[in-house]
Amino acid sequence: MGLFQKHQALERHSLLLTVGILVVVAIGGLVEIAPLFYLENTIEKVQGMRPYTPLELAGRNIYIREGCYTCHSQMVRPLRDEVERYGHYSLAAESMYDHPFQWGSKRTGPDLARVGRKYSNEWHLDHMTNPRSVVPESIMPPYAFLSDNTLHFDDIADHLKTLRFEGVPYTDDMIENAKADLVAQVDPDADYDSQDALVARYEEASGRKGTITIGDFDGDRTRVTEMDAVIAYLQMTGTLVDFSTYEADDLSNRR
Ligand code: HEC
Repeated sequence: MGLFQKHQALERHSLLLTVGILVVVAIGGLVEIAPLFYLENTIEKVQGMRPYTPLELAGRNIYIREGCYTCHSQMVRPLRDEVERYGHYSLAAESMYDHPFQWGSKRTGPDLARVGRKYSNEWHLDHMTNPRSVVPESIMPPYAFLSDNTLHFDDIADHLKTLRFEGVPYTDDMIENAKADLVAQVDPDADYDSQDALVARYEEASGRKGTITIGDFDGDRTRVTEMDAVIAYLQMTGTLVDFSTYEADDLSNRR
C-alpha cells in the first residue's frame, strides 16, 4: 500500500480525519502559545509611557464613539515608506494602556499614531470643524458639533477605575482627583497649584517631563466641550516615548 492509499484511509473516515486535524492544529497552537507562559513579558518596557490624563481619556472615548477608527489606523508599521511618512514605527508598549487598542486596519485617512504636536490646536479645530477649510481635497466628514457638545465628565473617575481593573496603573490619587485634573488641563486660567498637581501626578508615573499639554483647545474658555477633549487626545498621541533617546532592545542580547 503506497503513501497515497494510506492517506485515503484518513480521507474516507470523517472521525479519523477530524482527530488528525485536531492533532495537527494542537501542535501548531502549542508552538505559538507555549512560549508565552514562560516569557515574563512580551512587551518591551520603554520609558515615558503613562496612563492617559482624564481629559485625554475623555477625548479617546469620543474618538471611539465617533468611529474615527473606521478611517484611521493608529499603528505605524515597520516598513520604510511608513516610517518615512509617519515617524518611528509603533512599539507594543505604546498601546499597552489602550483598552481597546486602536491599531485598526482601514486607512481612508492617514495613520494617527503620531499626529500629536504635528499641528497646532487651531489647525485641529479648523480641520475638525470643516476639513476642507485646511485640506481642500479632504473627504473627511466635518465634526463641528463637537464644539457645541458640552463634555459630560461626571463619571470620569469611574472610567479610570475601570481601566485600573484592566491593569492600567491609575493611582488612588489620580482617581480621587480625576475631575479636578480634567478641568485643570483644559483651563489655561486655572490656578497653578491644580495644574502643577495634575502634571506632577502623571509625570511621576511616566518618568518623563513635558508630555502634558495644558490649554484651551477649542478657543472657547467658557466651558469644556467634546472638541477640547478630542484635540487634547490627538495632541498626545505618539508623544509619550522620547524617540530621540530611545534605543531598541538588542534582540541578540535577549535570553
Ligand atoms: C470617512 C473617513 C474618515 C473619518 C470617519 C474620519 N476621518 Fe480623519 N481623515 C480622513 C481623511 C481622508 C483625511 C486626510 C485629509 C485631511 O487631512 O482631511 C483625514 C485626516 C485627519 C487628520 C489629519 C492627519 C494628518 O496627519 O494630517 C486628523 C487629525 C483626523 N483626520 C482626525 C479624525 C478624527 C478625530 C476623527 C473622528 C472624530 C476622524 N478623523 C474621522 C478621513 C476620515
